Amino acid sequence: RAFLYRLWKGTVSSKMLNPRLQKAMRYYMSFNKHGVHFRRRRETRRTGPELLCELRRRVRVRTLDGKEPPFSALGWRPLVPGVPLSQLHPGGLRSCAVVMSAGAILNSSLGEEIDSHDAVLRFNSAPTRGYEKDVGNKTTMRIINSQILANPSHHFIDSSLYKDVILVAWDPAPYSANLNLWYQKPDYNLFTPYIQHRRRHPAQPFYILHPKFIWQLWDIIQENTREKIQPNPPSSGFIGILIMMSMCREVHVYEYIPSVRQTELCHYHELYYDAACTLGAYHPLLYEKLLVQRLNVGTQADLHRKGKVVLPGFRALRC
Ligand code: C5P
Repeated sequence: RAFLYRLWKGTVSSKMLNPRLQKAMRYYMSFNKHGVHFRRRRETRRTGPELLCELRRRVRVRTLDGKEPPFSALGWRPLVPGVPLSQLHPGGLRSCAVVMSAGAILNSSLGEEIDSHDAVLRFNSAPTRGYEKDVGNKTTMRIINSQILANPSHHFIDSSLYKDVILVAWDPAPYSANLNLWYQKPDYNLFTPYIQHRRRHPAQPFYILHPKFIWQLWDIIQENTREKIQPNPPSSGFIGILIMMSMCREVHVYEYIPSVRQTELCHYHELYYDAACTLGAYHPLLYEKLLVQRLNVGTQADLHRKGKVVLPGFRALRC
């Protein structure tokens, strides 16, 4: 519990994590699978409003447009959606919900509130059916990692979870963002199923995030964190928060910073327990959460009781 209180106040460090998680973090630090060059950390700590303006200035949501090698030569240009993700809602959405898949959302009764937003973002294979009371049933966009596309157990091609929504896929690329290297050796091959899906459902907006966007977010987290963070991409949750901040005037994030319902139950839809899901091992999740905690303009009561953080969208900021 002490850890949770400190997370709400933004005063935790990785030293307070359990020894198993600390060991996992050390392993990822030394492995540095993606060849990350560490950025210098900032000497002075930015306030929430300063950070929001920095994010607005630097963050550019970018997806593969088929114009760069190797994709240009592979004929991707006419295959990717004609309208870029950032232009899908040119006027901007008013209020958006980002629903994390954490077990802590069970028994929250947040469903109605979540559905009242103009757009709802969900992740990977998180279902709504059977969980409507706690998570709602509206889905506007889904962010999926490459395992969802590559692993047959997810039934990407025929599951209704991935129909009638905006799809945004991503895969960890080298930090250099060398697209040739990435294309030859993705973490999971998302390229073949992506092409297949584009051919079959050309009208469905479906994008692959550009590695430069993902690593730009990593740079910003590291530059604004005192400790060295894991040299791995941010979690889908953090990526999704930033995409929604660039598309919506106001973003309500549910159960990212855990509420009083905090639990080691990894996902609300799966009987699997692991504290790493909430606090991170591979992803620099603890540091992402500390950054988001600093940006929160919502109330403490909403944070504690609903696990809700409220963030201004970039267009609502006066910088
Ligand atoms: O596990 P998965 O990546 O599908 O979950 C979606 C996102 O929800 C994660 O990337 C993470 O940001 C967030 N999450 C969390 N705590 C959990 C489970 C997921 O913060 N226990």
